Amino acid sequence: MSSPALAINFAYIISAALFIFGLKMLSSPATARRGNLLSAVGMLLAIVVTLFSQGLDYKWILLGIVIGSAIGLVAAYKVEMTSMPEMVALFNGFGGISSLLLAWGEYHQHPELSVFIGIVASLSAFIGGITFSGSMIAFGKLSEKIPSKAIIFSGQHIINAAILIAAILSTVFFAVNPQNLYWVFVVIVIIALVFGVTSVIPIGGADMPVVISLLNSYSGLAACAAGFVIGNNILIVAGALVGASGIILTKIMCKAMNRSLANVLFSGFGATVQAKGDGPQGEIRPATAEDVYYILEAADSVVFVPGYGLAVAQAQHVTRELGDLLEKNGTEVMYAIHPVAGRMPGHMNVLLAEANVPYDQLVEMDDINPKMDSIDVCVVIGANDVVNPAAINDESSSIYGMPIIETHRAKTVIVLKRSMNPGFAGIQNALFFAENARMYFGDAKASIQALVAEFKSGD
Ligand code: TAP
Repeated sequence: MSSPALAINFAYIISAALFIFGLKMLSSPATARRGNLLSAVGMLLAIVVTLFSQGLDYKWILLGIVIGSAIGLVAAYKVEMTSMPEMVALFNGFGGISSLLLAWGEYHQHPELSVFIGIVASLSAFIGGITFSGSMIAFGKLSEKIPSKAIIFSGQHIINAAILIAAILSTVFFAVNPQNLYWVFVVIVIIALVFGVTSVIPIGGADMPVVISLLNSYSGLAACAAGFVIGNNILIVAGALVGASGIILTKIMCKAMNRSLANVLFSGFGATVQAKGDGPQGEIRPATAEDVYYILEAADSVVFVPGYGLAVAQAQHVTRELGDLLEKNGTEVMYAIHPVAGRMPGHMNVLLAEANVPYDQLVEMDDINPKMDSIDVCVVIGANDVVNPAAINDESSSIYGMPIIETHRAKTVIVLKRSMNPGFAGIQNALFFAENARMYFGDAKASIQALVAEFKSGD
């Protein structure tokens, strides 16, 4: 190995170490920011040293950087926090198509591939293609540009299995004799793009965050394979890290919903939506800001349970303000976070961290549930499915078995939402009709602002 190549590989080892330490630090809110920065420094180092590789045509690289940075910058400023999963879907898709094009470009330039490189090139194209078209469908479903419910077609599993077998056969056929089989490579690309669509279309919008996490893992695997194609060590390592972390996250999300990955991918969850008027019914007990103020003012312990509605209303700052006022009033304040509250992993943690909620006030579901009977008031802010008791007491419910924050066991539950509409799973919630529940209707931010005003005027 020449000395510049040695130096580049040495820098890649440092980059890889920075990625790994950065990832480790992401596991705690206290170190996550520094972890992110560390990984970013690792990536910068990897990019800079790669630019010293021999034989690069800088004008194309510069053009790519300019176009990519412009799109990224506009997207980062414009995209709402609630649309972040859509943006992640697009980014995964672009990662996938890059790996596909990279393998294709390499094969186009050097068709005399070895069997091993033939295999990794077709894997990179195949996984990259699935990631691209699957991510575009996931993006379309999340942004409701296409129907978000599961689209089931007859013979779906057989068709998907046939496509997969065709892909495996084409890969083997191609890898044995890559020089003369350009058309097979193109077939692999077409199969991959079709498979991405047919495998994501039957999955309902409610499961899209899991699919996105899985596609994120695929984008890593495609990049890893592309790393082998062009013999780039950091691409292999970074791809493997993304592949592994994506699959771990996918597993965590499935566990938090008490579902298997196979169930998410193949069951068509969300194909049927509960009709209006189905599900639990009864009398609800609406409350005004003044009613809620008196309940909170008298409470010794209050647990906030944020959900997707908190993100929609951007109520994190005003919630923290209310929490501070309650603490000043001598109340013990906690924030209970469900692992799949909101629309992406860590969604609530990010919002509460943005509002500087102290980390020691955040409690996980498994830690708060055993204490629930002794909690005076649970304030459910725009959460629905993650507090739906049907998950533990209605075997016929589509969310049966999903662990929930058991707010119905608190002495009083106050539910902040705008209407009686269901949450993401599309099912009604018996909690709203419970005797200890009060419905405080309105946009979560405005509702909490009204409570803050009540506290301030009561001082
Ligand atoms: P949801 O069940 O979706 O309920 C959100 C509630 O927020 C809705 O009932 C809505 O009622 C209310 N809301 C919306 N905008 C509001 C506003 N401006 N002010 C007040 N309330 C508002 O949310 P959740 O409890 O957080 O559950 C998350 C769901 O996503 C679960 O089904 C989960 O399985 C699924 N999911 C999440 C993830 C991740 S990683 N987070 C992954 C896969 C699936 P109104 O319309 O009446 O206001």
